[in-house]
Amino acid sequence: MQTVHDHDSLKNALTAMRADGASLALVPTMGALHAGHMALVEAAKQQADRVAVSIFVNPTQFGPNEDLDAYPRQLAEDSALLKEAGVDLLWAPTAEAMYPDGFETVIRVPDISLGLCGGSRPGHFDGVATVVCKLLNQIGPDIALFGEKDYQQLAIIRRMVRDLDMTPQIVGVSTVRDDDGLALSSRNAYLTPDERQRATTLPNAIREAIAAIEAGCEIAVALQLLIRRLSEADFDPIDYAEIRNADTLAPIMGEKIENGPIAARLLVAARLGKTRLIDNWPLMVP
Ligand code: PAJ
Repeated sequence: MQTVHDHDSLKNALTAMRADGASLALVPTMGALHAGHMALVEAAKQQADRVAVSIFVNPTQFGPNEDLDAYPRQLAEDSALLKEAGVDLLWAPTAEAMYPDGFETVIRVPDISLGLCGGSRPGHFDGVATVVCKLLNQIGPDIALFGEKDYQQLAIIRRMVRDLDMTPQIVGVSTVRDDDGLALSSRNAYLTPDERQRATTLPNAIREAIAAIEAGCEIAVALQLLIRRLSEADFDPIDYAEIRNADTLAPIMGEKIENGPIAARLLVAARLGKTRLIDNWPLMVP
């Protein structure tokens, strides 16, 4: 595996990797890699001849009171994992290489960024869209893979690529979970042992709400129950618990659906102690 930190070395590495006409997949990450990231790498290997992974803790997607400084950085461990997984190229740019003096362009996908994590993290998705646009331009992959764990992020990237006529195919990969159902996340490392136990309430309460809705329970009632269960497990605040159209992310409030059932997504974000957890699950709204 070749590791590069600057644009010239990246260009040379890409030219060599592409010389034989090989197809290339990109997996963008912020590092602190876990089995969720590695599932993206595995899927990438299945779908392309060569795999590039980027590791960049992107400052523009963190708010002023968020965990940019505390975000785990472990390039040596990450690099060993990626090498073992058979990754061909690791792109780990410096902040100066990514955002040189005078940088000012912003990519915004306003409607899909409204609400959900965009509501509780203002500006977050502008930072995500801008850095992902740059990464896709820098690497020029045939496909790029993203986790469904960050469902709104995936929807925003799909829309950006469509709107800007970008060429990579965007592939979504199912959420990887611990045995008890908690979605893997680099932020789970912040949980105390007691919080880690209570954290399973999140996936459990989501699945219960989905079972209730699919059995005909009113959406508002099921969501209220879900919120109560999370509060009882000391999640506070609960940023959102919503059902959205799986493709457009348009809100589904429980109105009578004419051409139902429709593919939807139940999405939740809530804080447990100092840690903000997000999760989402597919459902059919009858
Ligand atoms: P990061 O949080 O490091 O996640 C990198 C990729 O791994 C994202 O596509 C995310 O959805 C996916 N991922 C994380 N946990 C997962 C899990 N449990 N199962 C499946 N996939 C999972 O998301 C980002 O970085 C950044 O916003 C980025 C897109 C790199 C832009 O900076």
